[in-house]
Amino acid sequence: MSRKRMIYEGKAKILYEGPEPGTLIQYFKDDATAFNAEKRAVLDGKGVLNNRISEYMMTRLGDVGIPTHFIRRINMREQLIKKVEIIPLEVVVRNVAAGSMARRLGIEEGTPLPRTIVEFYLKRDDLGDPLVTEEHIAAFNWASPQEVDDMVSLALRTNDFTSGLMSAVGIRLIDFKLEFGRYYEGEMVRTILADEISPDNCRLWDVETGNKLDKDRFRQDLGGVTEAYGEVARRLGIIKDNGASDNVVAFNGGAK
Ligand code: TMP
Repeated sequence: MSRKRMIYEGKAKILYEGPEPGTLIQYFKDDATAFNAEKRAVLDGKGVLNNRISEYMMTRLGDVGIPTHFIRRINMREQLIKKVEIIPLEVVVRNVAAGSMARRLGIEEGTPLPRTIVEFYLKRDDLGDPLVTEEHIAAFNWASPQEVDDMVSLALRTNDFTSGLMSAVGIRLIDFKLEFGRYYEGEMVRTILADEISPDNCRLWDVETGNKLDKDRFRQDLGGVTEAYGEVARRLGIIKDNGASDNVVAFNGGAK
């Protein structure tokens, strides 16, 4: 047995060389960071939950025709994915004002938006991932016009499908962040959904109570972070009701 070759280490995940050409292994760490890694913690079991939740989301999205990098889950913390060239943009879809948009535009958090808004942020940690427009994207050639169209269309389809999925289990999808990759198939290059979809990169509020079931619990020191992630997994039917075998305790809304 030889050790897997590491390709890249991010804040919450590690990528290793995959078993076949064109594949990678995506490993989910327990590390949590916020505010461009100024705030850090290790949250026991977060990686296991995000691996399962992202597997579920990517599989369901694949079922409705949204191309993703997901191939299959390997174990508790790893999944096999297609190797892509990550487009250096974060695509944020917003249904309800929250987070940076609520702050930037002075809109009260929780205000439903008149229409769904798609935003692009440049993936540059050293600049704090600044908001950019399609003008910047075209001028600096970060993505082609076709890729921008593909990303907007796939992001909106992901929003429609995921909003419905979450709504069915009593969760409001407030906003989320996606990353896309260029997948090379012979002469062809396709834009496909990459990275992860989990409570680390979505805002998920309980419909009844408004409780946050996402990484804002960590950002805002609300406590009960992994419990909230476990609650999302439980409602989606990914983990069993008692959650005992998954080492997840019942979510009680967290410390207030
Ligand atoms: P924002 O309101 O802080 O801009 O975040 C919008 C959405 O993007 C929210 O669901 C959290 C997610 N997000 C990430 O996944 N990574 C990040 O680095 C940031 C800033 C936000």
